[in-house]
Amino acid sequence: MNPPESRDNKAWKTAAVLHFYSKWDKESKILIAMEYQMERDRIFAGKKGKPEPFKFNREVARVFDDMLNRSVPLYGESIRRQAELASAYYQEKSRIYDLGCSNGNLGLSIMDQMKGREFSLIGVDSSFPMIEKYNRQLAHKTESASVCLICGFLEDIQIKNASVVLINLTLQFIAPQKRDAVLAAVFNGLNSGGILLLTEKTIHREKSLNDLEIRFYKKFKLENGYSELEISRKREALEKVLVPDTIETHQKRLERVGFKTMEIWLKWFNFASFIAVKP
Ligand SMILES: C[S@@+](CC[C@H](N)C(=O)[O-])C[C@H]1O[C@@H](n2cnc3c(N)ncnc32)[C@H](O)[C@@H]1O
Repeated sequence: MNPPESRDNKAWKTAAVLHFYSKWDKESKILIAMEYQMERDRIFAGKKGKPEPFKFNREVARVFDDMLNRSVPLYGESIRRQAELASAYYQEKSRIYDLGCSNGNLGLSIMDQMKGREFSLIGVDSSFPMIEKYNRQLAHKTESASVCLICGFLEDIQIKNASVVLINLTLQFIAPQKRDAVLAAVFNGLNSGGILLLTEKTIHREKSLNDLEIRFYKKFKLENGYSELEISRKREALEKVLVPDTIETHQKRLERVGFKTMEIWLKWFNFASFIAVKP
């Protein structure tokens, strides 16, 4: 096992990550906990001046799970249910694509769900530190032979023979003018009866409700230990990097590329998870 990058740092956290993998056996839990030990996310704490635009670099990869836990409402629940949906909709000899797979939380949860079944999973992410971290974790999984990790832009990936495509909190980082093409490629690459699971941070078309959602999201982050300064600096860093759409924009785009059957299966203020089924 590669040593974690900042072994000297005392602020290691493991509990939150163990929470996601509560169904793994004792031995795996210990291995994963060791691999996952990491610093608390303090990226936007205590620095001055205008923050750089947000990037999924090594610094972010190192604290990513703590960041997700404390800044994405219902993250663990969402990962668990997506893995269950992936398992329910997987068609024998087809492929699962995880576009924007990061360090593999969703993929690892799917492997847990699919234990004992043959399947093929393709994870794509443009951040090398994320793919590296994902790859390190695969070393402990016997199912890793069926997993292929690609460090590249998901816009360039040809999707074929897919029964499940996951885009979890990632379409929002793709240039808005490219989003239709990405979803069209997903639709075309899905087999009949296959699904797209799309989770995004959203905005509300009505200002008063948008303000409400922002207020509750800020409350969530404060409750999770982020300071006012960290929240505002991260918001600044994400400006023009994370560009959210409204629910209606997502639904219209899904319809435009060919999906007719869709539902929002999880919603929390400014976060929404869609399932869309290919006819
Ligand atoms: C918020 S994270 C996704 C979280 C992850 N799906 C999960 O379930 O934990 C967004 C990811 O998308 C990746 N990303 C952003 N733009 C991308 C692109 N054009 N192609 C591939 N990956 C991209 C980032 O590197 C980052 O790892």
